[in-house]
Amino acid sequence: MEIITVELLDRQYTITIGDGAWDQALACAEMYDKVFLITDENVAGLYGSQFSYPQYVMTPGEEGKTMETALAILDEMVRHSLTRNSLVLALGGGVVGDVAGFCGSVYMRGIDYVQIPTTLLAQVDSSIGGKTGVNTVYGKNLIGTFHQPQGVYIDPAVLNTLPKKEVVNGLGEVIKYGIIGDPDFFEYLKNHLHELLELKPQVVFDVLCQCCSIKAQIVAEDEKDQGERKILNFGHTIGHALEAVTEYKGYTHGEAVLIGMLYEARLANALGLLPGYGYEEIREVLETFDLNWSIQHLPEEAIFHVMMQDKKNCDGQISFILPIQPGQVQEMLLTPEQMRRWWRRIVS
Ligand SMILES: NC(=O)c1ccc[n+]([C@@H]2O[C@H](COP(=O)([O-])OP(=O)(O)OC[C@H]3O[C@@H](n4cnc5c(N)ncnc54)[C@H](O)[C@@H]3O)[C@@H](O)[C@H]2O)c1
Ligand SMILES: [Zn+2]
Repeated sequence: MEIITVELLDRQYTITIGDGAWDQALACAEMYDKVFLITDENVAGLYGSQFSYPQYVMTPGEEGKTMETALAILDEMVRHSLTRNSLVLALGGGVVGDVAGFCGSVYMRGIDYVQIPTTLLAQVDSSIGGKTGVNTVYGKNLIGTFHQPQGVYIDPAVLNTLPKKEVVNGLGEVIKYGIIGDPDFFEYLKNHLHELLELKPQVVFDVLCQCCSIKAQIVAEDEKDQGERKILNFGHTIGHALEAVTEYKGYTHGEAVLIGMLYEARLANALGLLPGYGYEEIREVLETFDLNWSIQHLPEEAIFHVMMQDKKNCDGQISFILPIQPGQVQEMLLTPEQMRRWWRRIVS
């Protein structure tokens, strides 16, 4: 069992990783007067019987991540007479975690919640750091709050029931941590990627520990996303644009991030930030994944349009987090004109 601490400005919480982590979540839940579980149909079918609390079961997937769902959940919380001393348990992937965290943050102006993430993406990324939210018809995560959980409890064994596509979805963020955070971890990933894809238990455990401690450290340095946390955006400037121009049907988020990282590494290389051998190392790891890497066929202007709307932009310039070597990144701002010029070079 590994325990990683997330240091916040006014308190701390822990991420517990390993066999038996869920028992600890249950022990934590005993300290509250009432517990309300939020999950989705798939996860409820597989693991719901391990929890005997009143619950709300969401429709699985991104479509359920709406204000309507949040309102229905909040109504149920009122109906079950949850108090300020009650706890919300989020059992599921990033969708469940984001919606449950949001409901926890607004119910009676905020009650405690605990994350029990069951997808690889949620275990390495979304369950840590306290960003909650729902989508609107105008865009993803437009309504949300910062509300840090009381704890994160990760049982790696639940990844064995995850569809392969969802494993790859999470691996996009895992590779990202190797490139933004730690040259030794990048080296480790290079050597163990196939075992990771096969979910070899020791490799999965080591990778979860590494990713969670990198994310914990970044969150500690920048709890409210005003600086350092930006580096988590590597691969996402282009990745988000690919998702948006294909109306979120062309790629999973992780696939779009994997492809985004390849082209952003290429951009770093073209700009002279990343040497050729560093680019080749990154490319080799990324191309282990069997994806359609070509993006030349996608509408260029629509891609630029999405990139220009990015929240992270500054003074009309597009923000890119670019690698200068595997394990180290820096921010680079490009004007739309500069972007247009470089784009042709990097996509051809
Ligand atoms: N809060 C943050 O900091 C943050 C960071 C990254 C992503 N996100 C959000 O996370 C969401 C994506 O999360 P996700 O990729 O986990 O998707 P998801 O929650 O939709 O889960 C993917 C699918 O896997 C199923 N599933 C979950 N656990 C399973 C298991 N153990 N076995 C079998 N099936 C299982 C789910 O029912 C669902 O169908 C997005 O909405 C994104 O905005 C939030
Ligand atoms: Zn992401």
